[in-house]
Amino acid sequence: GSGKFFVGGNWKCNGTKDSITKLVSDLNSAKLESDVGILQPLFFNPYVVVAPPFVYLDQVTSSLTDRIEVSAQNSWIGKGGAFTGEISVEQLKDIGCKWVILGHSERRHVIGEDDQFIGKKAAFALNEGLGVIACIGELLEEREAGKTFDVCFQQLKAFADVVPSWDNIVIAYEPVWAIGTGKVATPQQAQEVHVAVRDWLKKNVSEEVASKTRIIYGGSVNGSNCGELAKEEDIDGFLVGGASLKGPEFATIVNSVT
Ligand code: G3H
Repeated sequence: GSGKFFVGGNWKCNGTKDSITKLVSDLNSAKLESDVGILQPLFFNPYVVVAPPFVYLDQVTSSLTDRIEVSAQNSWIGKGGAFTGEISVEQLKDIGCKWVILGHSERRHVIGEDDQFIGKKAAFALNEGLGVIACIGELLEEREAGKTFDVCFQQLKAFADVVPSWDNIVIAYEPVWAIGTGKVATPQQAQEVHVAVRDWLKKNVSEEVASKTRIIYGGSVNGSNCGELAKEEDIDGFLVGGASLKGPEFATIVNSVT
């Protein structure tokens, strides 16, 4: 592993002003093991981010304590302008957002975003100084057909072909069959893919990037299964969906990687 952990909470399309006010207040009062001294957020280990829906980003960035950073769940491929319904990277930065999740399986498989479009978004966001949580992962039928590595490598290559640098990228391996299903990957299944991803980076990017890049796991992570997953050498944290909507459970997951 990289020795440095990262945990993201992806709130997806959930919440109201009231429920999000409560969630932020629960997160602000949660005991995180990383609360040691008066360190700057960048030195927190684990590095923790939450990704609220766009309309609540401003509310969350201004009410969450600075030990947790804020991420968007999507961004536009280039500068803002006449793109109805889109949100630009400049706007995200303007309200204090530091990260963006790109390539999430719901954007790939429900909305229909392809590798090339996702790559453009990633390159633009990174060039503008946002960190990118780059998601990859296979469908159940792809796993059953023995194509897990092929699918993950192809999605990785689409990022690798266009990104200016790997300094601000966290890779999230999220097997689609594990997302929101309660069917978490076993620690061995996740570790196997994480090792393959690291090996791919070593061969296709560099040894340094392979050892430094955090590879986090997502898909039905909760307060009870996080401990076993966190023990695996190449699991550098989590991208949590459903369980990140509960402050105390999310804190349990954050604390499992310290
Ligand atoms: O981005 C988060 C993942 O899609 C995982 O969602 O924890 O609800 O399975 P989940």
